[in-house]
Formats: sequence, C-alpha cells, structure tokens
Amino acid sequence: MVQNKAFIYKSIPVGWPVAGKDLTIEDIGFDDAAPPPKGGFTTKNFYAAFDPSQRGRMRDPSISSYSAAMQTGKPVTSVHILGRVLKSDRADVKEGALVLVWSWATESFSAVGPSAQVEVIEERPGVPLTAYLGPLGMTGMTAYGSLHEIGEPKKGDTILISAAAGAVGQVVGQIAVREGLHVIGSVGDDAKLDFITKDLGFTSGFNYKKEDLNAALTRLAPNGIDIFYDNVGGDLLDVAITHMNTFGRIVACGSISTYNNKSTSDNYGIKNYGQVVRRRLKWQGFLVLDDNITKWRKERDENISKWIADGSFKSVDHVTDGIDRAVEGFLGMLKGENLGKSLLKIAEPE
Ligand SMILES: NC(=O)c1ccc[n+]([C@@H]2O[C@H](COP(=O)([O-])OP(=O)(O)OC[C@H]3O[C@@H](n4cnc5c(N)ncnc54)[C@H](OP(=O)(O)O)[C@@H]3O)[C@@H](O)[C@H]2O)c1
Repeated sequence: MVQNKAFIYKSIPVGWPVAGKDLTIEDIGFDDAAPPPKGGFTTKNFYAAFDPSQRGRMRDPSISSYSAAMQTGKPVTSVHILGRVLKSDRADVKEGALVLVWSWATESFSAVGPSAQVEVIEERPGVPLTAYLGPLGMTGMTAYGSLHEIGEPKKGDTILISAAAGAVGQVVGQIAVREGLHVIGSVGDDAKLDFITKDLGFTSGFNYKKEDLNAALTRLAPNGIDIFYDNVGGDLLDVAITHMNTFGRIVACGSISTYNNKSTSDNYGIKNYGQVVRRRLKWQGFLVLDDNITKWRKERDENISKWIADGSFKSVDHVTDGIDRAVEGFLGMLKGENLGKSLLKIAEPE
C-alpha cells in the first residue's frame, strides 16, 4: 500500500463550505501491487479541475438535479482528472498513456473501472498539458458551443460577459474578440480588469464591486448589448436586461452569485423581467453535455488547439499546488481568487 491523499467531501455544507468540517484532506491508501480493475486501469494523477458545479453536487441527495449529489465521506468528484496510466486491462487505454478521466475522484492514485468516461490525450505540439482541462476540456466546450449555438455572434455585435476573467469567461471573450465583436467584461477586481483588457484583448471592462452597474453599462455599451453571456445571475443580470438590444440573446451559463446561499429565498429576485418580452430577447440555458453544444466539439478542438499553438489564444491557469491545499483552491475559486481556469496540481507530470 502507498499513501493516496484525497480531497474529501465530509459533510453537506450549509452556505459556504467550512474547511476541516465539510471538506478535508485524507489518506485513503492505494494498493500499488494490485492488478488494475477488470476492463479498467490504474493511474497516477497530475491535475484535477476545480469547477463551480462541484458546489452544486455537495447537496442533500434527495434534491434531484442534472448531476448526482456527491456522497459524503468520499473524495470530491472532479469534472476532469488528468493522469498517466500505470496498469491497464482496457484495450484502448495503454500503459503509459496520458488520460483525461471525466467525473472522477480527486485523489493521487486511481483505480478506474470499465464504465468511466476516458479520453486518451494525444499531445499536440505547442499546447500545454493543462489546456486539456481548460479550453480543450469541459470549460472550453461550454464556452465554444454555447456562444455559437445560443449567442449567435455576428461581427460588430456587442457582447457582455460576466465572471469574464474566469475559466469560461476567458474563452468566450477571446473567441468573441477573434470574431470581431465589441467585448465587455465584468470582473471582481482591478487586476482582472487589466488581465481581460491588456492580456486578452477585450474592448473594455468594469469592476462590478466598484462601479454602479447601470452607470458602467451606460458608459461602456452606449449602443446597447446584443449578447449577454451570463455566468453569474443576480443584480448584473437584472441591470443587463435593461441594456439589451431588441432581439438580443442571453446565454444563461451559470448563476454563481447564488451557489453558496443558504436558501433560494436569499437569491436576488429579477425586477426587469418584463423587458425580456418588450425587447423580444432570447434567454436560453444549456448544459455542456447537451447535443446542441457538443456538436461544436470537432470545430472547437481544431480551432482552439491551433490558436493556442500559434500563440494567438491564451490558456491561462490558476494552479493550486499540492493536494494538501485542495480545500483552499476550491474555496478560492468560488470566492473569485482565481484568474483563468482553476486547477489543482496533484503531482509533477512525468
Ligand atoms: N451550463 C454549463 O454547462 C456550465 C459549464 C461550466 C460552467 N458553467 C458555469 O459557468 C460559470 C463560470 O464557471 P467557471 O468554471 O468559468 O468559473 P470561474 O469563472 O473560473 O470562477 C468563478 C468566478 O465567479 C465569480 N464570482 C464568484 N462569486 C460571484 C458573485 N457573487 N458575483 C459575481 N461573480 C462572482 C468570480 O470572479 P470575480 O472575481 O470576477 O467575481 C470567480 O472567479 C459558473 O456559473 C458555472 O457554474 C456552466
């Protein structure tokens, strides 16, 4: 047996998860002498993705949703675990291969059963390994598919993106810049504002914690907004509705402003809903695994890997180094301490 540190979901949080009570780090052990699971394989893990959706799975299992509740006492499920195969009993997964395992435990070593969703990574020159958990992973699929499918961007359109310096936001923004849109980002601190405007090429942005939202949108979108890519919900959504142009599109990607509320009655109530009708807005939610989003996968893979390799697209990561710091990294993402895609580095890739 060897040590196998894991990020453990201990108990169901009420409001913000509490470090040491709801979330801990524990050694769950790994039998390195055992054969791989029948039809499966074992891995040494290098990275795990942090995603806001993990918070939604830390709930009472009797509450149904689009993805199953996590089980208390078990490792936190990560959207992606990236690791190298140690032993394999699966024909399409060779020993030594780099693999991306979807929806798997955040742990140092894994025994992956036959039903797991697995991608063998074929590394492309010029593409960093971590991009496969970000722009080339679930996050990038979310951004690429929903922007095109629901946002229907056209050159010259104005797009507003909330949580613009985060994992999804940085991808949506850079695609929109490439496609000739006027790109406005909403972010929660001034370093993020510099990041989106100076590093990512957004047209402009504002710090929603410092500026009145209506004043900011009046200043930055004098001709109105054609697409609102909404990662946050809450008061910005409410105000943005009043700046939308007729036949504008709202891409409802997430509502992170509500994820750590104790009850839905704490959520901000939208006051300007009537404008959705008057302005004939399309307001559509989606899940990344929907067919109308994944149909963009081939185009996403080709374009984003090409753009990263030619240096015209940035894949920025916010890496928490060491599984001992997993709780801090996860909570930091929910609090907005991240710039780009939040990742946990479990071990140096080898
Ligand atoms: N529909 C889907 O299939 C799908 C798939 C993936 C992600 N999503 C959603 O997309 C959104 C972004 O996810 P991500 O992975 O890219 O996360 P992220 O943006 O990398 O990290 C979350 C960001 O949310 C912002 N935030 C946190 N609390 C906030 C609040 N109260 N008000 C405003 N902003 C707040 C913070 O940025 P600031 O510092 O700027 O506040 C933080 O950095 C989430 O809502 C997520 O659930 C949906």
